[in-house]
Amino acid sequence: MFDLRGRAAGDIRAGDRLSRPRLAKTLEKLRTGGAEAFYKGDIAWAITAAATAAGSRLTLDDLARYRPVQRAPLEAKFLGRRILLMPPPSAGGVILAQALGIVSNHVAAWRRAPDPLSPDYLHLLAEALKHGFADRARFLGDPAFAALPMQHLLDPAYHRELSLRLLPDRVLAHDAYGTPSPRPPLPARDGGTAHVSVVDQAGNAVALTTTVNLEFGAGIVAGETGVVLNDTLDDFTAWPGRPDLFALSGGEANQPAGGKRPLSSMSPTIVLGERGVEMVAGAAGGPRIVSATLQVVLDVLLFDRDAQQAVAAPRIHHQWEPDVLYHEPGLPAATVGALAKKGQRTEMRADVGKANAIVRSRSGLDAAADPRVGGMPAGY
Ligand code: DON
Repeated sequence: MFDLRGRAAGDIRAGDRLSRPRLAKTLEKLRTGGAEAFYKGDIAWAITAAATAAGSRLTLDDLARYRPVQRAPLEAKFLGRRILLMPPPSAGGVILAQALGIVSNHVAAWRRAPDPLSPDYLHLLAEALKHGFADRARFLGDPAFAALPMQHLLDPAYHRELSLRLLPDRVLAHDAYGTPSPRPPLPARDGGTAHVSVVDQAGNAVALTTTVNLEFGAGIVAGETGVVLNDTLDDFTAWPGRPDLFALSGGEANQPAGGKRPLSSMSPTIVLGERGVEMVAGAAGGPRIVSATLQVVLDVLLFDRDAQQAVAAPRIHHQWEPDVLYHEPGLPAATVGALAKKGQRTEMRADVGKANAIVRSRSGLDAAADPRVGGMPAGY
């Protein structure tokens, strides 16, 4: 499938060229035939055949009937900016809106901005994320299939109420996060997501996150198409009470059904200010996408960090269940200790998402790729 010039897998080195001529042929077909050429005809047939051979129920009809849905972004207000966020079926925008709402209620009381790596500030972020992930598990799913309490979840008064629940030196009981209602429990992993941030000469911006879920998705290439099939079915709550591969639990709203889109954590984000686009950001990394995006956006908007500093800074993650505050190795040990003293169950993990961002600076546009995965910004 991959042209690695006859090398055995163990013999592949950094710098080797990977080419995918079959995928290139498929892309050529899309160039001339458009979406129709993907969802009907040879490519659709190959996708269906590969999926069926692997035990899937996907049919040609499912593909033929697939239509993209355009949804208006969610909007949040934060420190005088309008922030455009990903709506359901991603939970990204809802959790970011809640967390930004909670943080903004605290900003008003700050005499001066805290150290972004201080235990107090990171405790605030962790607690804010826990509320958001708790509500995700209880309420969120594909809005075409379930009524989602969006007005409540995005209500600034609710964010204020959540912000008042913060105990500076302690965590809350498990059920005190978000809005109580029936809930389920958890294991964890990472892999098949990419985020792209773009701003063009005219100031137009694109924040795009795309995912096949785990590394190489379902691990199936559809026939000769070069198309890797995703395993995004895992993003549904397939079995209530049993969490997905990212340890996310969910409720009835996210149970699988034909034609339904699963919940996601994708968080492509655009920050608009007086001069138009101020920032474009997003990340890969399962539920850590949300935490990474939140911290990158806050590092720029609250702490005046440049894009590179914001993307590189050590991060934390909390998704309510499991009740663990994950922190990257770069977080000072004293900070981790102080968070533990507040009742946070801390655990180190190699990375909290892989983010990138473009930030409008005094000198123009400042872009940064995440040093955790390498890569670099391109400007033309
Ligand atoms: O949409 C989601 O939330 C997941 N499919 C994302 C998976 C992911 O980010 C894995 N890799 N980095």
